[in-house]
Amino acid sequence: MTNNMITFVGAGPGNPKLITVLGRECLEEADLVVYAGSLVNPVVLDYSSGEKIDSYGMTLNEITKVMADALKAGKKVVRLHSGDPSLYGSVIEQMEELKKYDIDVERIPGVSSVFATAAALNTQLTLNGVSDSLIITRPAGKTLDEDKIKELSRHNETMAIFLGTQKIEQIMEKVEYPKDTPVAVVFHASWDDQQVIKGTVEIIASKVKEAGIRRSAMIIIGGVVDPVNYRRSHLYGVAQEPL
Ligand SMILES: C[S@@+](CC[C@H](N)C(=O)[O-])C[C@H]1O[C@@H](n2cnc3c(N)ncnc32)[C@H](O)[C@@H]1O
Repeated sequence: MTNNMITFVGAGPGNPKLITVLGRECLEEADLVVYAGSLVNPVVLDYSSGEKIDSYGMTLNEITKVMADALKAGKKVVRLHSGDPSLYGSVIEQMEELKKYDIDVERIPGVSSVFATAAALNTQLTLNGVSDSLIITRPAGKTLDEDKIKELSRHNETMAIFLGTQKIEQIMEKVEYPKDTPVAVVFHASWDDQQVIKGTVEIIASKVKEAGIRRSAMIIIGGVVDPVNYRRSHLYGVAQEPL
């Protein structure tokens, strides 16, 4: 039987212990790992003794061809994405391209950096009486012409902004939260060099600039960053039907 399957694995946010057991097993068995740039911790790559290729700067066609050729040569191939592949991972276009080679994809989820960020902040992203919703978004950039940050901010719910560190000044000017709304920027959540900067919509951009953080960070806006005046959940008080 021919192997026509490539496994897309979520590497987790950085800490090498935050990859799933299944993800690690796939890496251990892989002959080729094509990983998505500097947000994949090199220590995670050490789980594999196979060949490793950094896809940073490669085109979609180059990435899929190198994986297809290896698979054709009988190798086990893993595509390794940072965090969870379903967030800003361009997974669908890779799958579509691989279909042209008659290759199927199976997926192993990962811990997204948004959750490692919540852990770094020791908070919840949804909190009774503060925010019942989480908006995940990103600013316009190379692969997005226009963003919806302004419109989304009008909901006044927790917002997690990926890929936004370099544009934090413009983002803070754009959002329509009250100026004293808490904001956190977490660089390299779960890595050894993790950094947490806290401020408000008004002052966070200058604090981030001062700290010299320009990339690889998550922006969280909303009361959950500094949880005061939340409502206690009844979960721990009154016996309830299972949700
Ligand atoms: C291309 S996206 C990939 C997101 C990834 N799929 C995930 O689920 O975390 C890259 C962006 O994710 C965020 N990011 C990834 N790893 C991070 C980490 N360890 N700490 C903070 N932000 C991170 C940053 O905003 C970065 O610009």
